[in-house]
Amino acid sequence: MDAIAERLLKPEAAPERTPVPPFDLVIFGAGGDLALRKLFPALAQRNEEGVLPEESRILGIVRKQEDVEGIPNEIAAKLAAAGLSQERIAAFRRRLTMVLLDAVKPETYGALKEALGDSQRVRSFYLSTPPDLFIPICENLANSGILTPTSRVILEKPLGRDLASAREINDAVARILPESRTYRIDHYLGKETVQNLLVLRFANTLFERSWSSRDIDNVQITVAETVGLESRAGYYDKAGHLRDMVQNHVLQLLCLFAIEPPNQLEADAVRDEKVRVLKALRPIVGPDVQRMTVRGQYGPGAIDGQRVKGYSEELGHLSGTETFVAIRCELDTWRWAGVPIYLRTGKRMAQRYSEIAVTFKPVPHSIFGRAPGCEELYANRLVIRLQPNDGVQLQLMMKVPGSGKLKVVPRQLDLRYETAFDVRTPDAYERLLTDVIRGDQTLFMRRDEVEQAWSWIDPILTGWQEYYPQPHRYAAGSWGPSQAIGLIERDSRSWADPEFTE
Ligand code: BG6
Repeated sequence: MDAIAERLLKPEAAPERTPVPPFDLVIFGAGGDLALRKLFPALAQRNEEGVLPEESRILGIVRKQEDVEGIPNEIAAKLAAAGLSQERIAAFRRRLTMVLLDAVKPETYGALKEALGDSQRVRSFYLSTPPDLFIPICENLANSGILTPTSRVILEKPLGRDLASAREINDAVARILPESRTYRIDHYLGKETVQNLLVLRFANTLFERSWSSRDIDNVQITVAETVGLESRAGYYDKAGHLRDMVQNHVLQLLCLFAIEPPNQLEADAVRDEKVRVLKALRPIVGPDVQRMTVRGQYGPGAIDGQRVKGYSEELGHLSGTETFVAIRCELDTWRWAGVPIYLRTGKRMAQRYSEIAVTFKPVPHSIFGRAPGCEELYANRLVIRLQPNDGVQLQLMMKVPGSGKLKVVPRQLDLRYETAFDVRTPDAYERLLTDVIRGDQTLFMRRDEVEQAWSWIDPILTGWQEYYPQPHRYAAGSWGPSQAIGLIERDSRSWADPEFTE
């Protein structure tokens, strides 16, 4: 048996783990939605796997006395609901310490300093707070003598609300910590399929050879959610969907899809290439926003047969904030010139699914002519599915077996992670949190990346103010406003149908 055949048959063991050094992780915003839903469960999972060194601690920053007991209880309840035994929950709780502190009051930082003591463990500070607290927190940490020479800070998105505010934050943080200890998180980079994009492209000659305008007709990136406003009205209504999802997650997907091969898998080599992609994005300026972008806001509708409220109803007042964005963009590079890239993302859409669908060019000439059964040759399509059912699908034309006349139909090669590997797919935050402690910045955004992304987003925001002040309505549970369909149909194309890629 040749080596590859043997390897294909062998069940895959989980990859070997890179050790994590002893650490103290401080989470600002410990009672917030992100910390409770994602950060603590991710750390508990790592604890279960034995990845967290014995002496490591997790310190949660809370503002109210009742949270000192309340938050660990809430965490414990969440872990119990996820099926963790009381004994295991107690083991995780022993790592937790809640510290009462007001982020903007320097005089309250003494409690944190005391809780940290003079340990030599790696100190990481996760700022799971609104961005206007980033500067005061960093300054207060520095002025209270809490930062050690290896301390690092993790900044949750959104980093600012435009280029100017992002620069201001970056400048202020840079006065306190070097770039090598600043981790700007975008949890999409921690998703397995997103990391696999680099492997798919650069470990397989098959795709890399055709990864350009020579063979690719168009690219579609969809990030669709069924959730609505949830409990984040204060933040979301001010931010809007372009800032919440496109400036970061969607553009990061686009970067990893389109980058030139970095010469090695090293943080700065990868990030240099991502910046080049962002710089190549053709600006969408002034009245062009009307032609190249679609803003939408969901009205009432139904999801999974359940009636759901419209955005303004959920919010309790009228609002001009968009909950859906579609954009037709282009990269001005040798590789991508002339390939339209369609971005589409929204809340309260028909299905939760995220994918990158790459449609190749049709064959230049059909040798099958127009004979019945062969009239329609579909172009190949590669779908990189992030969620649900993460995996990769390749749509090909095949002959229908049988001795009758030749009949050609599309079928797909379907490689799903859950069936291809007998290994649990971790949540994005599990990997990212331990990467910070290990000091690996590959999956984090560098300052110039974030600023470059804002440089592209800012003119769209400005254009909207003048030329596109009101979003179009779409019914909750639909695929967005009809104008989004118009955006792609104008090019005689259509959105990849998720039904087809189930
Ligand atoms: C967050 C956004 O960054 O990503 C949310 O702020 C969004 O609005 C979430 O719901 C989506 O993440 P995921 O991993 O569920 O696709």
